[in-house]
Formats: sequence, C-alpha cells, structure tokens
Amino acid sequence: MSDSQQVPVLVAPRPYTVEVGPGLLSEVGPRLRQATPAGRATVVTDDIVAPRFARVVRESLSSAGFLASEVVVPAGETSKTWARAGLVLDAFAGAGLDRTDVVVALGGGVIGDLAGFAAAVFLRGIDLVQLPTTLLAQVDSSVGGKTGVDLDAGKNLAGAFKQPLFVLADTDTLSSLPQSEWSSGLAEVAKAGIIEGEDFLSWLEVSAEGLRSRQPSSIAEAVRRSVEFKARVVSADERESGLRECLNYGHTFGHAVEKVAGFGAVSHGIAVAEGIRFASRLAVDVIGAPVGFAHRQGHLLDVLEIPRIRLDLDPDALREAMSSDKKARSGLPRFVLADAPGSWRVTTVPDELLKRHIGDFVGVGASGEAGSDEEGLT
Ligand SMILES: NC(=O)c1ccc[n+]([C@@H]2O[C@H](COP(=O)([O-])OP(=O)(O)OC[C@H]3O[C@@H](n4cnc5c(N)ncnc54)[C@H](O)[C@@H]3O)[C@@H](O)[C@H]2O)c1
Repeated sequence: MSDSQQVPVLVAPRPYTVEVGPGLLSEVGPRLRQATPAGRATVVTDDIVAPRFARVVRESLSSAGFLASEVVVPAGETSKTWARAGLVLDAFAGAGLDRTDVVVALGGGVIGDLAGFAAAVFLRGIDLVQLPTTLLAQVDSSVGGKTGVDLDAGKNLAGAFKQPLFVLADTDTLSSLPQSEWSSGLAEVAKAGIIEGEDFLSWLEVSAEGLRSRQPSSIAEAVRRSVEFKARVVSADERESGLRECLNYGHTFGHAVEKVAGFGAVSHGIAVAEGIRFASRLAVDVIGAPVGFAHRQGHLLDVLEIPRIRLDLDPDALREAMSSDKKARSGLPRFVLADAPGSWRVTTVPDELLKRHIGDFVGVGASGEAGSDEEGLT
C-alpha cells in the first residue's frame, strides 16, 4: 500500500515488519501467503471486534487460499486468563491446526496477549500474526513479542515471548474506538514520548489538538513514532535485560491500580497515565528530577485529555500489589523514574517514602485536583 509505512523490528532469528497505514486488514491474506505455505489460519478476536472486522480478515485469508476459522472471546481484560487461554487452545485443536498453521490475533491488547500466548504454547509454538485494532495495541502491545495472561496475584504473571511473522496496524480501524479507549492508547503514546526524548515529547505537545480530534495525519505520525520507538528498544533488548525496562514507565503504579480496582474496572492506559503522574512526582524526591518536568508530564496528559480517575483505593492494598509486580525483586517494587525527556533509570524506593507518596497521591486523585473528566473505579 502506498500510504503505509514499514517499521522493522530487528529481533533474532527472525526480524519482522510492522506496517502502519489505512486499509491494511484486507491485505492480510496476500501478506501471509508470501510469508508461509500454511494451510489453515485461525482468527482470534473478541465479541466487539468480530462484527466490525472479522469478515474482511477471513475473506482476505480465504481468497489467499487459507482455510480460515474463528475463535471469539468476550471483550475485555477479564478474558486475559489462564482458563480462557485453555479454551482458546481447545479451539485450536478443534480446528485441526498443525505446526505449520497460523494464529491471527485481531483486536486490542487483550486479544494480542491472549492469542499470542496461545500461539506460543500450542504444539510448543505455531506462527502468529498481529492485527491490532486499538490505538494502544497499535502503538505498543502488538510490537515486541510479549504475550501472556493475568493471574489472581497480578497482571501478566504468566506468559511467553512470541514474536509475530508481521504486524499490520490498520489505522482505519481506530475510527470506531470509544473515547475511553482512545485516551487509554494516548497514555501509552505519552509514555513513549517522555521516554524517547525531547523531539517526540515536544511533537506530542504541539500535536495534542490533532490527536484529541483524531486527525488522520496526526494519528499516522503518532503510531509510526511510537512503533519506531518500541521497535528500537525491543531490537536492542528483546528479553528485558536492561533497556526494555524503560517501557514499564508508569506501569508499577498503573498495574497496582488495575489489580486493586479489579481487572477490567479501569482500562490499562488510563491506569498507566495515573502511573506516569505518580512516577513523575516520585522522581522529584528520589532522583532529584526538576518539579517542572513533573508538571510538564502532567500537563501533557491533561492536554491530551486523558481523564483522571477517582483513586479511592486502599493505599496499603496498592503498596501490597506493587510487591507482586513482575519488576519487583524480593518483594521490593522497582520504578522507572525519569529526570528529563529520554533520561531514566530503574530504582527501588525506601518503603516509608513510597508509602507517603502513595498516601499523598491517592488523596490528590480522590479530590480530582488535576483533571475534570473523572472515570470512576467501581
Ligand atoms: N504485550 C505487551 O507488550 C503489552 C503492552 C501494553 C499493554 N498490554 C496489554 O494490553 C491490554 C490492553 O489493551 P487494549 O487497551 O487494547 O484493551 P482491549 O483489547 O480490551 O480493547 C479495549 C476495548 O476496545 C474494543 N475494541 C478493540 N478494537 C476496537 C475498534 N477498532 N473499535 C471499537 N472497539 C474496539 C475491545 O473489544 C475492548 O472492549 C492489557 O491487558 C495490557 O496488559 C500488553
């Protein structure tokens, strides 16, 4: 497609491409035919995405000679479970998939993580294609190969690395996203901008209006820049032994909010936005970040109109949830903290200081100080 852009993800042994642009869903069949001689392709999707997009994907696969089938799961984070993964695996077996066949993940980050995990373990691993349909999935979760499910103990605690054959990010799909999911995706774009550096961050600040109003040119550039950022990080550190940890900016607090509120009660990106606000304040005390940089980040989230949530959550429960975060070591939570655009480090925080910050922050969130649109947590 002439309007699309290709971003390489340079992982061994098989590098792949993320293609960003309009109209790409109908291209999946021919693209997959170039990549594999497989006979069958199973589309995994959810019950909100299926009525919108499954048909065009299935028709494209069939017209390229694949025997296409479909597994539809209930929409939302509550489908990202071990039990649901088992049902998806049973469906693969029922569809007769063999080792040469392909799983096509069509949907948001929940579907990408769930279907990707199932593809990683079915017959010890079969091929995967990612067709992300939320902003969050296009800018973040479909790229980089992390897949998995939540456990009662916490987010993403069971999973596998599974790099796809390719990713097609069809920007046309984003026009039907509800506002809350748009904001959720913008939070991950903001994270990428803050961690990438001054150029991306200031582009976001001047492009906020275009992003709020979903102008196609702003969307295309935000997705491309975010994918380029993530691809660069993942290409350098696929298994998170260093650089990749920066992608967790805002996530220690964000994952705790998701867990304590109950998975699915608050969308991932909205929780991450709270995590960015929290981490930006913590960084002032812990690594001497300038207060102005914390304000700048809060202002960016505000101008992108990412809603504040009422954090009427138990501070002790939030602190406890951080101990079971994937990044914790010996029960001590670790935070990505930034002191300037593109300048970050990972650190533990003295417990008393952390508890004080959680208490202060929860108080601020509950008063709704920094935002007007609140999304309740009930
Ligand atoms: N693997 C990774 O590297 C990674 C990175 C970031 C986030 N994640 C995970 O991603 C998940 C969040 O992803 P998400 O925000 O996309 O959530 P999601 O998959 O639940 O999608 C959000 C909602 O939007 C609906 N939807 C999807 N596409 C649509 C469209 N085009 N039009 C209308 N509705 C549409 C879905 O049905 C769902 O109800 C979390 O589980 C998070 O942990 C993973």
